Amino acid sequence: MASPASTTPTVMCRGERFRLFLDEATIQARVRELGRQISADYAGRRPILIGVLNGAFMFLADLMRAIDIDCEVDFLKLSSYGAQKVSSGQVQELKRIDADVRGRDVLIVEDIVDTGLSMHYMQRLLEAHEPASVRTVTLLHKPDATRNDVQLDYVAFEIPNLFVIGYGLDYGQLARNLREIYILDEEATDVPAGD
Ligand code: IMP
Repeated sequence: MASPASTTPTVMCRGERFRLFLDEATIQARVRELGRQISADYAGRRPILIGVLNGAFMFLADLMRAIDIDCEVDFLKLSSYGAQKVSSGQVQELKRIDADVRGRDVLIVEDIVDTGLSMHYMQRLLEAHEPASVRTVTLLHKPDATRNDVQLDYVAFEIPNLFVIGYGLDYGQLARNLREIYILDEEATDVPAGD
């Protein structure tokens, strides 16, 4: 007989099964909430959102449309996990920002903070450009995996320490186009808490 858990939608990616974790409506509602919060916090200012390629492009596009004050955008790219599900432990800058952020209010926009290595690296990188302020936004945070000293100002969802795909997040470059977020179907996981 089918168990209740078996009714959860699943997708296959590179031969592994992932199950639905955050549906589109849940993601969109939380992104709109963050947009409102950022608009209020930065009222009267003109922040520049620095999106981290490739993973954050979808979240950034939705978040920016949920912000109703003047804002700008630029991108940087760091080395990714490649086709692995665990961090290589090394970060490389593959694309630098073009904007001059000296004296600006910078918001780093990430898809996910796992070990925190990339975010730690970016915070130091951006601070070296002497901006007026640096804050961070991440769609997902795996608190149990974070080993590095990171300042997280806006977190959409805290999630368990399991690999996730969809809504910009990839597994070996696949699955970014899914509108929902799916989690590796390994063991029971808790419902994510909004932050
Ligand atoms: P960190 O440096 O370990 O915090 O990892 C950050 C980067 O690793 C993210 O920007 C993602 O590109 C990638 N990453 C970490 N966890 C996942 C995951 O569960 N799914 C997909 N990509 C991930």
